[in-house]
Amino acid sequence: MQRKKIALITGASRGLGREIAIHLAKRQVEIILVARDKQQLHETKNAIAAVGSSAHIFRCDLTQSVERKELVDYVQQNFASLDFVVHNAAVLVSGPLTQISSTAIRESVTTNLIAAMELSRDFFTRLAAAKGVIAFIASTTSHVPMPYNSIYTATKFAIHGFAKTLHYEAQSQGIRVFTTYPPAMYTDMTQGMAKAMKLQPCKFYACGAVAQKIVRAILKRKAHLNFYTPEYVLTILYQFFPRITTKLLEWNRKKFAIAMKENIK
Ligand SMILES: NC(=O)c1ccc[n+]([C@@H]2O[C@H](COP(=O)([O-])OP(=O)(O)OC[C@H]3O[C@@H](n4cnc5c(N)ncnc54)[C@H](OP(=O)(O)O)[C@@H]3O)[C@@H](O)[C@H]2O)c1
Repeated sequence: MQRKKIALITGASRGLGREIAIHLAKRQVEIILVARDKQQLHETKNAIAAVGSSAHIFRCDLTQSVERKELVDYVQQNFASLDFVVHNAAVLVSGPLTQISSTAIRESVTTNLIAAMELSRDFFTRLAAAKGVIAFIASTTSHVPMPYNSIYTATKFAIHGFAKTLHYEAQSQGIRVFTTYPPAMYTDMTQGMAKAMKLQPCKFYACGAVAQKIVRAILKRKAHLNFYTPEYVLTILYQFFPRITTKLLEWNRKKFAIAMKENIK
């Protein structure tokens, strides 16, 4: 009998991470759910049980190196193999740079970038043994600088660069590196901004549908997944006409400024 595949998903307590966990579980993958909020992690676990699969909870604050080490030890000790690691957890700290605290900058860079880098390194040997997949949830901001989003944009540019470079050494070990750039979804991350910009939730893409496509691509061992949405058009525009696109984004700057105030931490 074929052994059950195992996936570790960070940021699985809500939003896109929860949906990716549920869709992977539907494909008979056993899930290790990672995030800080235990109650929400249990809600994800219950949703997975409802689709007839099983999940394990590991509460971990990814900004804490001690807790990241405990996560790695937990996986080594409790699972014989590891097939997928999905780096999904992230925080969006928005607003003018002068109003963002050093703590918020460090938390963002550690959650969105350093945790993903170090966990990729720490699980690399296990993933190589399973010929597994490391999945990175990037963003349109991996390609297009968004006004008043300098910290988040920096982490997403960096995660794209990290993933695409890691590909070379991972490939030689049989690991597939997957990167995706999801469109705007209505989640806790975007709610404040949506409210400030008076955008209705229906203007956003559904997390479940986005997650389903991501899971399909991961299981097919694809290297990347683009969503052909207006954000994708913006990405192409920025690539070929950076000056015009920057001007367009500058026109929008006031709208962003008002919206981002909602998100300033
Ligand atoms: N929403 C969008 O429109 C959009 C668009 C493109 C890309 N993305 C990307 O998609 C991914 C998911 O975003 P989302 O919209 O689903 O965000 P979300 O609803 O805010 O969820 C973020 C997840 O990250 C976890 N997390 C945050 N800080 C953490 C920490 N220090 N330690 C452990 N877990 C932590 C949260 O769990 P706890 O709070 O329980 O720890 C939560 O499960 C992110 O990488 C985001 O950049 C989102």
